[in-house]
Amino acid sequence: MSTYLVFGATGNVGRRVAERLAWSGAAVRAMSRNPEAAKLPQGVEVITPDLDAPGALDDVDAAFLMWPFHSAEPARPIVGALKRRVRRVVFMTGGGALPGVAPEEQPNPVARWHATVERLIEQSGMEWTVLSPSTFMANTLWWSAQIRAGDYVRGAFGSLATTPIHEDDIAAVAVHALTEPGHEGHRYTLTGPEVLTQAEQVRLIGEAVGRPLHWQELTLEQERARLLADPDFPGDFVDELLDGYTKMAAAPRPEVTSTVPDITGAPATTLSAWAAEHADDFSGGRR
Ligand SMILES: NC(=O)c1ccc[n+]([C@@H]2O[C@H](COP(=O)([O-])OP(=O)(O)OC[C@H]3O[C@@H](n4cnc5c(N)ncnc54)[C@H](OP(=O)(O)O)[C@@H]3O)[C@@H](O)[C@H]2O)c1
Repeated sequence: MSTYLVFGATGNVGRRVAERLAWSGAAVRAMSRNPEAAKLPQGVEVITPDLDAPGALDDVDAAFLMWPFHSAEPARPIVGALKRRVRRVVFMTGGGALPGVAPEEQPNPVARWHATVERLIEQSGMEWTVLSPSTFMANTLWWSAQIRAGDYVRGAFGSLATTPIHEDDIAAVAVHALTEPGHEGHRYTLTGPEVLTQAEQVRLIGEAVGRPLHWQELTLEQERARLLADPDFPGDFVDELLDGYTKMAAAPRPEVTSTVPDITGAPATTLSAWAAEHADDFSGGRR
């Protein structure tokens, strides 16, 4: 039986990919730096992320790859190891990497790393599919401490519109691309079902947790100071994040794509449904 290899298998998307494959009865080899703590379904083989380890790529037919690294340095060894043994790769890109634009011309370092991986995969001879998702609904968990503490989410760019996507919808598309023919050579732009401003997202989370929640707009400087005081946001990431938001706010309003329903046959999940699933994360279990 062919085996599916899943990178980042404890992450937002990789976990869902590993679970969906395992629940379908497929053989899954998942990677985590801490296999004992991975908490993946029974039957999933969990290994450390070392493709040169004996047996790591045995029987692997297709791999789900995402990029957890803060450079493109591991791209050549990883793609090189995969292309020697694996027929198909599904890569989740990120950083707003622009399609058809050379890595060196991408708008930011994160996009450059992802575009480098995309290019290596496209030139590898493997069957490839690239998934380019919009912002994850899970990003709203960044607001969870503020929501647990009160009724306001403070931040800049409340009117910034995005098309947030449920991580499980990305995983569902990934599993189709890993297991079925017909997705080779495609770069899919994946979005959620709605265009929502950040302030609207906060209101919808409020409905899910059962109390009105509001956005409170901060100036860019106030937001920068707030993020720098938060240990979850390293200093260099704060500027990158705010720069990314500034560019997104200046860009045309994003559009919803039909790729998730077209491929999965089911409508993309709404933020309301995602928030209902995660209501305890915002209420600390006190509702
Ligand atoms: N958030 C968004 O809105 C968004 C939108 C589009 C694209 N993306 C892209 O999505 C990717 C992040 O995906 P995600 O949110 O699913 O991941 P995540 O939740 O951030 O999890 C990271 C995963 O990578 C593994 N990992 C971390 N460091 C590693 C290392 N040095 N070597 C090997 N494995 C490592 C972790 O596993 P262990 O800790 O178990 O080892 C974990 O499974 C990024 O490429 C990002 O650019 C994000």
